[in-house]
Order: sequence, then structure tokens, then C-alpha cells
Amino acid sequence: NKDLYILGIETSCDETAVAIIKNGREIVANVVASQIESHKRFGGVVPEIASRHHVEQLTIVLEEALHQAKLEISDMDAIAVTEGPGLVGALLIGVNAAKALAFAHNIPLVAVHHIAGHIYANRLVKEMKFPLLALVVSGGHTELVYMKEHGHFEVIGETRDDAAGEAYDKVARVLNMPYPGGPHIDRLAQTGEPTLNLPRAWLEEGSYDFSFSGLKSAVINTVHNAEQRGEKIAPETLAASFQESVIDVLVTKTLKATKEYNVKQVLLAGGVAANKGLRTRLEQVFEDEDVELIIPPLYLCTDNAAMIAAAGSIFFEKGQRAELNLNANPGLDI
Ligand code: KG4
Ligand code: ZN
Repeated sequence: NKDLYILGIETSCDETAVAIIKNGREIVANVVASQIESHKRFGGVVPEIASRHHVEQLTIVLEEALHQAKLEISDMDAIAVTEGPGLVGALLIGVNAAKALAFAHNIPLVAVHHIAGHIYANRLVKEMKFPLLALVVSGGHTELVYMKEHGHFEVIGETRDDAAGEAYDKVARVLNMPYPGGPHIDRLAQTGEPTLNLPRAWLEEGSYDFSFSGLKSAVINTVHNAEQRGEKIAPETLAASFQESVIDVLVTKTLKATKEYNVKQVLLAGGVAANKGLRTRLEQVFEDEDVELIIPPLYLCTDNAAMIAAAGSIFFEKGQRAELNLNANPGLDI
């Protein structure tokens, strides 16, 4: 009954992250080197800069994780790495490092889908109960994922245009806020009233898909029209109204799917899961429902490697192995 240690590596976007998970659910090391400061002045992630940072940071972050855990690479039972989706040049750094470690130390390699990782961050909070529904909201994804068992992912709804986080970041730009805009809008929204009547894209009856580009355009038009009239709308009113519209659609569709699919748990996942307004509303709405709601702590919502190791440990136990010819897959489907 030896303990099972999984090393996770995540480099899909602008965080270089390495973590070690014990027996699937216990974090023994979790190190994240954020590059946000380097990308800020460009207003978004610059892929080439991201790759370079990953090259520079990865061995340092790995050393730090092993140091925190007081373990060595040879103690690992498997190495789990984000295979995709993400920036190809960024993913390649993590994938190649994982392959090199796996080869040099003769350790099994496990490939993890980034979104599966975000969902499995919840397993570090609580044991998962199936069937479940995950609301995945990040910079690149907005999806409702139905899971009837471990490793089974069925996308029942997804965005048709912008992801929720993308809409946050674009609206933040209009309000002259630094990248990434999500946390800034979230903070500002707490201080304003959602008095502007902004659109909500419900789409066809029964659809669990999302669309945020119309909302984004409505915010931009509202700002420009006010400017033309020589007026200025208070930024906190804009932020609160925008956030209300996003939350309304996300929470309403999640609640509806929860009932239709008769799930035992609802999990929140992805960077936008850090949103205070969204967390509060979900808690309120699910308080009266006969379903368990799991919301991870903030450090497990934004990109990290603990979630990759958590997903990797389940896949490892299911017998999944990646070959040493594993490649980065920037457009990987879940
Ligand atoms: O999951 P993540 O770290 O990276 C991706 O896989 O995309 O998500 C990053 C996204 C960004 O768009 C960021 O603005 C958004 O998550 N975000 C937030 C908040 N914190 C991060 N959006 C709204 N409210 C927040 N508090
Ligand atoms: Zn992510």
C-alpha cells in the first residue's frame, strides 16, 4: 500500500506550473510562476514571449516543487502533462520537459486535456460523485460538461463565439483596465449597481450553448454612444451591468441542465470561476437545490499544475499512458 505520487506540468498559456499530488487528492507541492507582468504592456498574452518564459522558468519551478515536497523525481509514479489545448509553442515546452523526465527516469507519462484539469481541480476539494455537471469558464472556454463517470466528458453546451473570460478581458480593455481584465471588472462590479439593460443571449429554446460577443459589442456601443452625447457612464455601473448579464446566463443555464440531467454534483471550473459575483450567485441558487455544489479555492481556479496532476492520477489509475512521441495539440477536443 505504497503512496501514489503524480507530478503535474502545465504550460499551456502564461503560467509555468509544476505540482505534486499524493494519492490523487492531496497537494504536497504546488508552484506557479505567472508571466502576467511580462504580457501586461501588450494587453494580452504574446505567444513567443510565453514560450521563452516557460523555457527559463520550468526547471526552476520543478526544483521548487520537489523541494516543497521533499521528494525526488524518482519518487514519482507518473508524470502528467497538459497536452492541449493552448498555445502550441507554450505547450511544447511542458510536453518536451515531461517526455525528457519520463524517459530519463523511466516513469510513465500521462497526457491531460487542459479543461479536464480545470474540472479535476474540484477533486482536490471533494470526492467527485457521478453523474455530475461542470461549468467550465476560462479565457479560452465556456462549456457545460456532463460526466457520467471518471474520464468521460460530454460537452452539452459551449460558446459559439467569445469565451466568458475573453469577454471580460475585452470589456476591460474598453474600460482602460490592465490585462487580464476579469479580476478588475469583478472588483469594480462589487461597487456598482447593474442598472444598464444589457442583452442576454439565451439562444434557441433548450440550447445550453453560450454567446458573449453580442454582450461585448453592446457594452462597447453603450460607452461610445455616451461619449458622443458628451456623457460618461460610471465604470462601476458598466462593470456591474456586464457582470450581471454574464452571471445571469451562466447560472440560469447551469441550473436548467442540472435538473434535466439529474446530476448529483455541480462543479465550477476555470479562471472565471474566481469571479466573486459568480461564486456568490451559484451558492445562493444551489442552496435550495438537492445537488451538491463544489467551488474550488481561487488558487485552483486559475491555471495551475495541481489540477493537471489530479486529472492525471485518475487517468493513470485507469491505465492510460502516453507514448514518448506525444506531441502538443493546440486544438485538442475534450
Ligand atoms: O483558466 P485561466 O487561468 O486560463 C485559461 O485557461 O484561459 O482563465 C483566465 C481567464 C482570463 O480571461 C481572466 O480575465 C479570467 O480568467 N478571470 C476572471 C477572474 N479571474 C480571472 N474573470 C472574471 N472574474 C474574475 N475574478
Ligand atoms: Zn485554464
